[in-house]
Amino acid sequence: MAPVDPHDFKTDRILKNLQGNTIKGHGREHTTHIFIHFDANKIVAAKKWIRTFAEDTLTSAKTQLEQREKFKKEKIPGGMFAALFLTAKGYEALGFADVDAKFADDAFKSGLKTRLNITNDPNPSQWEEGFRDEIHAMILLGDDELRRMGEFTKGLLDILDAFSHINVVEYGNAIRNSAGAGIEHFGYVDGTSQPLFLKDEIESYEKDHGVVLSAPTDALKFDPSADKELILIPDPYVAVNLEKPAFGSYFVFRKLEQNVRAFKLAEEVVGEALFPNIGEESKRELAGAYLVGRFEDGSPVVMDDEDAVPNSAGFNNFNYADDPSGGRCPHFAHVRKTNPRTGAFDQSKRMARRGIPFGHRNVDTELDPIASQTPEGGVGLLFMSYQASIQNQFEFIQQFWANSVNFPGAATGIDPIIGQSATGNPADRIFALPQVYGHAVPAVTADFEQFVTMKGGEYFFAPSITFLKGL
Ligand code: HEM
Repeated sequence: MAPVDPHDFKTDRILKNLQGNTIKGHGREHTTHIFIHFDANKIVAAKKWIRTFAEDTLTSAKTQLEQREKFKKEKIPGGMFAALFLTAKGYEALGFADVDAKFADDAFKSGLKTRLNITNDPNPSQWEEGFRDEIHAMILLGDDELRRMGEFTKGLLDILDAFSHINVVEYGNAIRNSAGAGIEHFGYVDGTSQPLFLKDEIESYEKDHGVVLSAPTDALKFDPSADKELILIPDPYVAVNLEKPAFGSYFVFRKLEQNVRAFKLAEEVVGEALFPNIGEESKRELAGAYLVGRFEDGSPVVMDDEDAVPNSAGFNNFNYADDPSGGRCPHFAHVRKTNPRTGAFDQSKRMARRGIPFGHRNVDTELDPIASQTPEGGVGLLFMSYQASIQNQFEFIQQFWANSVNFPGAATGIDPIIGQSATGNPADRIFALPQVYGHAVPAVTADFEQFVTMKGGEYFFAPSITFLKGL
């Protein structure tokens, strides 16, 4: 499959009926997420609203990409972005009794609350209240102008109230470092490694990394390109029509609270134990990079000085083949656990990650505030991902990689950022290093508390616009 070229006529037919934010992130600074439950006796009104919303407000992938080109050329931002997602229960509430037969993905069909044995998520009774009850749909709004989105949301909530119950409303806000890159609340650049679907993005990757994906040489360490099949499936409720292809995507939403203070203290403790002889700041930075697998600016920790490129912040052309012992990037590091980069199997697990931070900070994250200035809760990541299969992609990564003590090797420990232990045994979060950059280090085995807590979420499908208009 060739990469997606928005100027290609055939691709154009796909993009027109596909919701935005799928093959490329919408990129707005602020988001609103409205979770609703349809009233059983007002389904006709709910369907009518969805049809109108699909017609007038939803942003297609095609419109989004046109806005993107306009922004690149004329610096005119794209305005408000909108998307709509349904749960399996949502389809049923709308009168689709055959959801089970139409969709293949068991995770989607049974919903996140029933998958605790796979995700090791806390029991829903411990989730935030708004996520505990049955959710039917999520509306995602994104905008660079908070006020405009706020006014729209206010009007929308009034409309939704007429035929649904509002479970909860969540808000996301991008935070950026001084280089303009989006970061998460622990202070690390996020979103560097993404599957790339668009022709121009792939060309930029080739140019930035000095590689040619179609004619690989030894210089090519990681191929980020992906076919649309990695995240899209034909919309099961739209009859196949080659003139009007209709695609959708499974969507995961998870509200993940971050205990920034505990994480920052852990960086200090590990840094002190491992690198007693380097400066305070450097030892903390290095320790953090070992937990994440990248430095705060996004540079991969696996690259040593010889490999380093002048600006390695957005660097993604690397793998771990030359670091089998984990002495340069520990096996448990978040990015190594969640994408081991060993070949086709790992490539098939990739997702389009579209998360955004939530919660307010009084002290700028990039200032690296000292521990006592940092929040212990109330901030985190609204994790979102698109994939062709929740079971094979999101759940596989969470269950078999992040949550597994023995991946990639015996006694590796669970992912220090997102790992959720099956037993709750603190020893599952271990930090033991054989060596650091080829040098022996003191035997450090630190066990950590959990820095990230799941507060609620759900599995959705982003239907094709064709489906929503035809409801
Ligand atoms: C990459 C942080 C949750 C999967 C990253 C990166 C950071 C980060 C800083 C490096 C930037 C990049 O390579 O794009 C976090 C934080 C989380 C979180 C703070 C929670 C609060 C998750 C979850 C998953 C996940 C729930 C999936 C189960 C990934 C993947 C990558 C990544 C697949 C890219 C790895 C690669 O391709 O090299 N994350 N993440 N993350 N994260 Fe997370």
